[in-house]
Amino acid sequence: MARIAYLECTKCGERLGAEKPQTVCPKDGGVLYVRYDLASLKGRANRSQLSTRKPTMWRYSEVLPDAEPVSLGEGFTPMLASREYPNVFIKDEGLNPTGSFKARGMSAAVTMAKSYGLKKLAAPSAGNAASALAAYAAAAGIEAHIFMPKDVPAANRVECQSYGAHVTLVNGLISDCGRMVAERKDKEGWFDVSTLKEPFRVEGKKTMGYEVAEQLNWRLPKGIIYPTGGGVGLLGMWKAFDEMEQLGWIGPERPQMISVQSTGCAPVVKAWDEGKSTSEMWPDAATLAAGLRVPKAYGDYLILDILKKSGGLAIAVSDEEIMGAFRRWAEIEGIFAAPEGAAALAAYRKLRGSGFFSADDRVVLFNTGTGLKYLEVIDRQLPSAHAKPPARQIGGIIGPY
Ligand SMILES: Cc1ncc(COP(=O)(O)O)c(C=O)c1O
Ligand SMILES: [Zn+2]
Repeated sequence: MARIAYLECTKCGERLGAEKPQTVCPKDGGVLYVRYDLASLKGRANRSQLSTRKPTMWRYSEVLPDAEPVSLGEGFTPMLASREYPNVFIKDEGLNPTGSFKARGMSAAVTMAKSYGLKKLAAPSAGNAASALAAYAAAAGIEAHIFMPKDVPAANRVECQSYGAHVTLVNGLISDCGRMVAERKDKEGWFDVSTLKEPFRVEGKKTMGYEVAEQLNWRLPKGIIYPTGGGVGLLGMWKAFDEMEQLGWIGPERPQMISVQSTGCAPVVKAWDEGKSTSEMWPDAATLAAGLRVPKAYGDYLILDILKKSGGLAIAVSDEEIMGAFRRWAEIEGIFAAPEGAAALAAYRKLRGSGFFSADDRVVLFNTGTGLKYLEVIDRQLPSAHAKPPARQIGGIIGPY
């Protein structure tokens, strides 16, 4: 495991120590990134050592904090070759503990909370982060205080209650939940693990970037399509690519990073289309992809910067397109995706249609969670009679699963 060198503000570059829990930059509220001494790790941390390690995200121990992991087996999810589109790969995060990529971030955040001796954690959530926090907090013997919109998928609520978390259902959006946590945390003695308000959820999620590289044999794809709410997955992967380059594991090449949102809540897409470097609060956010119902992302400035630097873009897809893509993945690929994940396929179809990607481009689509969390939503959208699925095409699975 790596000793943390310092925490660095992504706005002003201020450096802070990691000996005690930190939140955001005290000067400007900027998101803090964890920095390691990668120069001294270069040469010592060899990517060929990875093959003998456990298939969890903690295999990337050189670039994860030096603490005893609170692990439920998260990470190293399958990278599936699409049966419909040659050169397309589906990274299936639905196989994580608690059924989504949120497990990675919470495993890292709860690991550090435990090592700091924190006893009470709190977070607002669109659903899946809540399930993950509740599970990892239970495993660590720490209290979890969770605020979710009252119309969150039932599975998320039932899970949180089962894990013994303290759940408050809020008549509002994740932004309202976030406000409630912020108002009460000092009085209640909660440590706030909201998206990007502490530095370690990004550390967990960045392991998706390491896995994309490792599972594609250290050749990064042309593009990565990522469903974006708070944007932590996107930020994490971009951070991972920079770290890997510094370690000498990859070269300077980068994928084009694509943020996909729902037309019912597309603040990043609007800002991107208008050439802005931050987003505005999206009014009346509404989409069946609960995880994309984030009216304003705290790290919007980082997301928009990455899209620009990578030659990517932000694109919105409608809930109808999301459900069409959901059915396609289920029928052709055998993947029962979260609506957020299905949005990645909907975006890919559009980007093929517009010529942004060609059939020869290697593209990774992130299915960020399992559709099993969304049964009531999916059931409402299903047509009464299913079309007969078309014949299967080539495809397969990569890696030792
Ligand atoms: C399944 C799923 N996909 C994507 C997202 C968006 O993730 P992020 O906030 O990291 O952009 C969420 C967030 O709740 C989610 O649950
Ligand atoms: Zn700062």
